[in-house]
Amino acid sequence: MSKYILGIESSCDDTSAAVWSDGKILSNCIANQAIHAQYGGVVPEVASRAHQQNILPVVQEALNQAGITKHDLSAIAFTKGPGLIGSLIVGVSFAKSLAMALDIPFIGVNHMQAHIMAHFAEQPYPEFPFLCLTVSGGHTQIVKVSSPFEYELLGETLDDAAGEAFDKSGKLLGLDYPAGPLIDQLAQSGKPAYEFSKPKIQGLNFSFSGLKTGILYFLQKEMKKDSGFIQNNLNDICASIQDTIVQILVGKISRASRETGIKRIAIAGGVSANSHLRSTLQVKAKKHHWELFIPKFEYCTDNAAMIAVAGAFALEEGRSDDQKIEPIARLSV
Ligand code: KG4
Ligand code: ZN
Repeated sequence: MSKYILGIESSCDDTSAAVWSDGKILSNCIANQAIHAQYGGVVPEVASRAHQQNILPVVQEALNQAGITKHDLSAIAFTKGPGLIGSLIVGVSFAKSLAMALDIPFIGVNHMQAHIMAHFAEQPYPEFPFLCLTVSGGHTQIVKVSSPFEYELLGETLDDAAGEAFDKSGKLLGLDYPAGPLIDQLAQSGKPAYEFSKPKIQGLNFSFSGLKTGILYFLQKEMKKDSGFIQNNLNDICASIQDTIVQILVGKISRASRETGIKRIAIAGGVSANSHLRSTLQVKAKKHHWELFIPKFEYCTDNAAMIAVAGAFALEEGRSDDQKIEPIARLSV
């Protein structure tokens, strides 16, 4: 008999539900919260209220698209952390209550591990061990993945995440939140004409806060000379910011590959949707004979398919949680 796992993701500002069955994703529904754009970032209280409104219709839609009812479910997987506590509480309480009412197992999933497990939503799967560069709005990590349950953090950001570097730079340019996708789009018609200094951080760690300050000073200086500098050169400025961030990320994952001898390289998280990051890694992969794993766009940014996949691995190992499980805002990979 087929197993059906419902995944629920509510760690930040997107409410998502997905259904996994026998190695396949049958549905992956996402309710985005556009309301945050007017505030220039995610407002936690607004996010948790929107999750409360969205969660029931999103779960129903995921079940409908999968062609099943809640009574067909074998288990429910949900994000237990890391994330915004108010947002997590909505998903955790909903998932636990529904699973208890249906008398089926439930599994709390680590959001950062799930971003990596998104690579198992569709074939071809990476073989273990592989290295994953997880780049999102809250995290920047290089992780050695030895099995679905073994993660070794080799490096991480000491301050801002790569997605934050995109979003905060975009804010300086007057772009809406989240600026990452907009910078990607605008950069397509620009050249990396301006150079920003890159941080000199030892080992496999990252730092992005200095870049943001460097960009601020650069813009202030240029605007003194020409008040229309940003409008007149927006595409080139975006291409330059994007190129700097991508060079930093690609430099560190290349170093991680050299140091570990692992040539299976994966990327995950919202910033892995970036077209320049993808194409730069493809060039590197050819040069260094890497096996490169790039997820489909819908599995890069926050989604519940990755939660359902991580839940499926756990269930296969006979792992599940009990009533005591609670959301954890800070949780490492
Ligand atoms: O993984 P994600 O959806 O949510 C978190 O867990 O943070 O990542 C969101 C981040 C945002 O910072 C957004 O600007 C960035 O991913 N992002 C991008 C692109 N698409 C999303 N950054 C650069 N280029 C993109 N195409
Ligand atoms: Zn995420």
